[in-house]
Amino acid sequence: MATRPNQRGGNAVDRAAQPDVRPPRAGQTATQQAKIPGYVYVVGAIAALGGLLFGYDTGVISGAQGFLKTSFHLNSTTQEIAVSSVLIGTIIGAACGGKLADWLGRKLTLIICAIIFAVGAILTAFAGSLELFIAWRILVGIGIGAASVSAPLYASELSPPSIRGRMVFLFQFAVTVGILVAYVVDYVFAKVGLGWQPMFGVAVIPAAILGIGMFFLSDTPRWLASKGKWDEAKKVLGRIAPGQEDQELGSIRKAIEEERHSKFSELFTGPLRWALLVAVGLAVLQQLVGINTIIYYAPIVTGYSGIGTSGGNGSLIGAMIVGIVNVLSTALAIFLVDRVGRRPLLMFGTIGVCLTLTATGILFLFNPKQVGIVLLIVILLYIVSFAIGLGPTYWLIADEVFPNRLRGAGSSISTVGNWTANLVISITFLTFINTLGKPVTFWIYAAFAAVEIAFAWFLVPETKNKPLEEIEDYWANGRSWEKVDQKG
Ligand code: BGC
Repeated sequence: MATRPNQRGGNAVDRAAQPDVRPPRAGQTATQQAKIPGYVYVVGAIAALGGLLFGYDTGVISGAQGFLKTSFHLNSTTQEIAVSSVLIGTIIGAACGGKLADWLGRKLTLIICAIIFAVGAILTAFAGSLELFIAWRILVGIGIGAASVSAPLYASELSPPSIRGRMVFLFQFAVTVGILVAYVVDYVFAKVGLGWQPMFGVAVIPAAILGIGMFFLSDTPRWLASKGKWDEAKKVLGRIAPGQEDQELGSIRKAIEEERHSKFSELFTGPLRWALLVAVGLAVLQQLVGINTIIYYAPIVTGYSGIGTSGGNGSLIGAMIVGIVNVLSTALAIFLVDRVGRRPLLMFGTIGVCLTLTATGILFLFNPKQVGIVLLIVILLYIVSFAIGLGPTYWLIADEVFPNRLRGAGSSISTVGNWTANLVISITFLTFINTLGKPVTFWIYAAFAAVEIAFAWFLVPETKNKPLEEIEDYWANGRSWEKVDQKG
């Protein structure tokens, strides 16, 4: 997911009130789930809508490219710019989203994002020139980046502690569903011959639902308390954690205090610099393995297999298959991550990514007519490997490696790194294909996957079942769980 994305972030104040954002442990769910108030589900649904829009607005470009090429007479460079312009906006949005959510509140920030999504959707649909198209896509990107920070933050701050982790996952899952919906919508509008305009325009519907829905919801207790509105914060807590209002208010107060005493520079000088290295390294490598060359250029890449191609638009059917496999594999990862742990999924998935990218490069040495179906299967195996490994585990690990007081700041930096690396890869893909050729291009991504395997093996700790305080001790004790266990 930008959390996807960043699919999370905010600044240090944002996240400090979250005792533990990970999925509940075994045995914790059944009884606590029964007590979750309906209001929390509404909040979850609205936040998922934020994720869906994020996925939709990034994925929609894939099926639109063929039509944009004709309308705006694109060459491969202008095509790369048309695809990647949204990412310039996401970097800006992700960098400012946390601050905005602190200043104006999570609720108002999300309403602003919804307005940006809605206005951006309409303006993009009516863009009469490439320049305007690029400008409106940057605008939409700002909304995506800011929502990728504020929607998971909003959802997790309005959830009882036992399900906060699931809220973050829900957002990521929604991103992959949004990508799939975009592929299906692209296919339908291409099929009925309506072209690219309505593909971008229909995003106005979920955007309007998000904006109207948010209007009726409250802001989070954490934000209200940070602005001194303790009574209002207590009232909201009564709706999400009835009977635990005072306890929760106590932990919010403590978190605000801790936050005041922590320094941003700790992320660069003390033992926590290792946490930052892990989060930023995973963020960048997650993109350097080329996932979005497949997600944004899905019809082109699957079209190389020759399967389901028609009318010069690549394979919109191939793209839909990619979308379905992505959603299903992400669901599998959500099921597995708290059972087998983060490291096995990350290692296993990234080895799969490395092997499938190498195989993709080799298959491109042959005539597509001879290897078409094999190529498609290998690309799908690549998607499975990414979606069970680097895809969701990056977002989770990048969240868990920081202590509460510095999590917002740390994950904001890693999110901006993720979007920036995404931009670099997306804006160079077609140029690489044209200048270096397909085999070498995919081998370059395979080489980054090999680096990622070594990075994960040597630097990424297993955080499954570890309380956040122990993870901080891990960094402070020379990155050794044994020393942490001896002291504990
Ligand atoms: C990545 C996105 C990507 C998505 C695909 C996420 O984890 O951060 O860049 O588009 O996975 O499902």
